[in-house]
Amino acid sequence: MSTTYTLDTATSRANPTPAPMKRLTVPAIQQRKAGGVTAKPVVMLTAYTARMAQLLDPHCDMLLVGDSLGQVIYGLPSTVPVTLEMMCAHGAAVVRGSYHSVVIIDMPFGSYEASPEQAFASAARILKETGAAGVKLEGGAAMAPTVRFLTERGIPVVGHVGLTPQAINALGSYGARGRSQAEADKIVGDAVALDTAGAFAVVIEGVVEPIAIAATKAVSCVTIGIGASAQCDGQVLVAEDMLGLFERTARFVKRYENVAETIEGAVKAYAADVTSRAFPGPDQIYVPEG
Ligand code: KIV
Repeated sequence: MSTTYTLDTATSRANPTPAPMKRLTVPAIQQRKAGGVTAKPVVMLTAYTARMAQLLDPHCDMLLVGDSLGQVIYGLPSTVPVTLEMMCAHGAAVVRGSYHSVVIIDMPFGSYEASPEQAFASAARILKETGAAGVKLEGGAAMAPTVRFLTERGIPVVGHVGLTPQAINALGSYGARGRSQAEADKIVGDAVALDTAGAFAVVIEGVVEPIAIAATKAVSCVTIGIGASAQCDGQVLVAEDMLGLFERTARFVKRYENVAETIEGAVKAYAADVTSRAFPGPDQIYVPEG
């Protein structure tokens, strides 16, 4: 049995600390969109660690343990090398660090494409080892039978269409998708296929805006935009991108902070203190008693 679950106010007989909020559920996210309208857009960010989850959780509806952790945390060249073990370890940390948001975990490349049965085995492992509420997988209509297989067996699924980074070797670049009418029609069709198959949300990444608007109107589930449109039913960004941890980000990222500059400033001050013997100072040393 997994030891990675955390206490949850919805189900626990104990009071978890810190005093938590009630965790949102997948049906609560689904209910945000009624009659094709989402009055309160869904707030989603990526999180890969327990501490970051603690900081983001009170302000988000959903936390995504994205396979973007391959690049952001591990310095890998793409998401392709990310493993199920990595996703489970980081997923469990994010569940432990959160009490409010619906936690969704990316299924890594190679863990679900071969068959619905392979996808079920991988998704079941993710849910058992992390305590997350659902999984996300990339791909459109071709993945619809897999999405149906999972959802009919009790696994909530988020789809991902448009720019699908796990397909970088086939796509050739991370540029925006849907510039031809044929590709635009395909992306909207992909979103509809996933919705029909039972996905409770679909991430629409890196598409020209009219596609995101058309897909959002065409599906009954919530659409989560990233490089898509403010008309989507919610938005997601990689937290480290919006916090300004990296010099290079995609056009669609809005930087709300410059954390890299803050860290560099602090480390420079620390290095100066160490070399001048100003650190540790009187407040940071232990003195003999009496
Ligand atoms: O891996 C990830 O972080 C993602 C989001 C960017 C949607 O899939």
